[in-house]
Amino acid sequence: MATPIPSNLQNPTSNSQPKSWNIKFISYSSSVEFKQNLGFHGTSLRTDGRSWRIAPVKVVDTNEFTGFTKSSMIHDDDDDTVPLLSSSQVMEKLKAYRGNQKSKQNYLAMYSSVVGGITTDSEAMVIPMDDHMVHRGHGVFDTAAIMDGHLYELDQHIDRFLRSATNAKINLPFNREQLRSILIQTVAASKCREGSLRYWLSAGPGDFNLSPLGCDGSSLYAIVMQDQSPRLQEGVKVSTSTIPIKPPQFATVKSVNYLPNVLSKMEAEEKGAFAALWLDDDGFVAEGPNMNAAFVSKENMLLMPYFDKILSGCTAKRVLALAEGLVHKGIIAGIREGNITVEEGKEAKEMMLIGSGILVLPVVQWDDQVIGDGKEGPVALALHNLILEDMKSGPASVRVPVPY
Ligand SMILES: Cc1ncc(COP(=O)(O)O)c(C=O)c1O
Repeated sequence: MATPIPSNLQNPTSNSQPKSWNIKFISYSSSVEFKQNLGFHGTSLRTDGRSWRIAPVKVVDTNEFTGFTKSSMIHDDDDDTVPLLSSSQVMEKLKAYRGNQKSKQNYLAMYSSVVGGITTDSEAMVIPMDDHMVHRGHGVFDTAAIMDGHLYELDQHIDRFLRSATNAKINLPFNREQLRSILIQTVAASKCREGSLRYWLSAGPGDFNLSPLGCDGSSLYAIVMQDQSPRLQEGVKVSTSTIPIKPPQFATVKSVNYLPNVLSKMEAEEKGAFAALWLDDDGFVAEGPNMNAAFVSKENMLLMPYFDKILSGCTAKRVLALAEGLVHKGIIAGIREGNITVEEGKEAKEMMLIGSGILVLPVVQWDDQVIGDGKEGPVALALHNLILEDMKSGPASVRVPVPY
């Protein structure tokens, strides 16, 4: 959302003298800070013969302006003319854009059924604007972690991907084996040994209508990302989401309609929490915006909500299977899938979030309630280690080797 220009900057040329502003571009990979005479023209900022259209994001004090993002600036040498670019110029600009991107995410390879191949050039990792997934949200997606040169739970994720596709009424452009082979080949081309694979199925490009009847046929895209984020293990805080949960028909499908999930995550971050937890329409614990939740009850039972109104998490299901080992060792008394009340959850000995991005993450506080003794619980840590071990040396049913 555009932040209004602060009143002290709204009409800075009104007293005719150019003012001196201290401007910091915080979004560059290395911050650029400079101080010089600048004249403002509405939202255009002129600096020594060059002009930039700017979108002020945050003002930290009257003389210091922070937060111009590179993407919010359109360089237009002396006027507002938008350049007409050839396709090779577009590619050059996309390359420069990727080079300057503030995100440190490394995209190593992308497959697109639209071009029928894989590219390792990040500037070419684009999809058509008229794709039904882009302008109508008519697409589904899924993931798989890459560890030690193996894809973790690829087949389990593909199963869910195909269920999502059926529910979204999108036909696969290939059969399952071809899809699987494309995904594995994309990872092989990326040479990535630690990272993640993400793939989308869309109703496809065609037009900008609501109906997919004009789409040329479904499209498949896949991208491989290098893993750079250290896995969090420290206990986190969660809040209760005030953003409404998706109805079960949509919550059980991994579609690209993640607006409620994004808003819920943003709400949590605004409250200093890691994620916001949804309750279902009956007030029972549901899930987080991209993770499931589980508890260890006072009776030492591992509790997990039913998957009938939420996304059936591949990691949560694997946790349920691996937790049997903890039952045999007497570390937990048993496992129960079912309805969990907020009271039961907040009184639990342990709470955890589960998902392929975080594995098993202990929760030490939910809203104002400290969970257990406020420290990472032993069951959450044991389950985290079991999943990590499974990723590194689990059975062939969960580890698919990548033929690099
Ligand atoms: C809404 C939601 N719930 C749960 C999960 C956890 O699923 P998985 O363990 O398969 O990553 C996700 C994953 O992204 C999700 O988006």
